[in-house]
Amino acid sequence: MIKAQSYNSKGPEATFAFGKQLAADISGGEIFALYGDLGAGKTAFVQGLAAGLGVTQTVNSPTFPIMNIYKLKHKKIKSLCHIDTYRLTDGNELTAIGALDYIGAVDTVTAIEWAEKATALLPKIVINVKFETISEIERKIIIN
Ligand SMILES: Nc1ncnc2c1ncn2[C@@H]1O[C@H](COP(=O)(O)OP(=O)(O)OP(=O)(O)O)[C@@H](O)[C@H]1O
Ligand SMILES: [Mg+2]
Repeated sequence: MIKAQSYNSKGPEATFAFGKQLAADISGGEIFALYGDLGAGKTAFVQGLAAGLGVTQTVNSPTFPIMNIYKLKHKKIKSLCHIDTYRLTDGNELTAIGALDYIGAVDTVTAIEWAEKATALLPKIVINVKFETISEIERKIIIN
């Protein structure tokens, strides 16, 4: 279970490590709704999560395509679904590409960058992760 917490990151490596460490508390079906400006560290966080889940491929911001699926060799979780809605006008396009097959599925962990554009599609219970840019290298990451 992912606990509500706040973390002061002092650099990209720390954000990565924070995401990586959280992966240990994942049990499947989690939806990480990520909020924060351009360059706030959303992708860096997902890269950490992915590493913690055993992904060895390079994880990039899925700007095009807007959804990347990583198959996992994890005992409980089959896939990591990484979505970036930045280029979408609304969530409907996510339905069109089949994202609802993954979002919230018990054998899947989902992380959505720019989650504000997908709120209509998301279940009520998600893990909200807000990234605040404090300085060039500092970020405050708030999980609710
Ligand atoms: N503490 C920090 N945590 C994360 N990234 C940091 C930090 N300090 C500096 N950075 C830099 O900020 C950038 C974060 O990029 P990243 O792609 O993770 O952001 P993003 O929120 O996914 O942006 P976008 O909305 O464009 O997808 C990187 O260039 C990284 O080096
Ligand atoms: Mg990104």
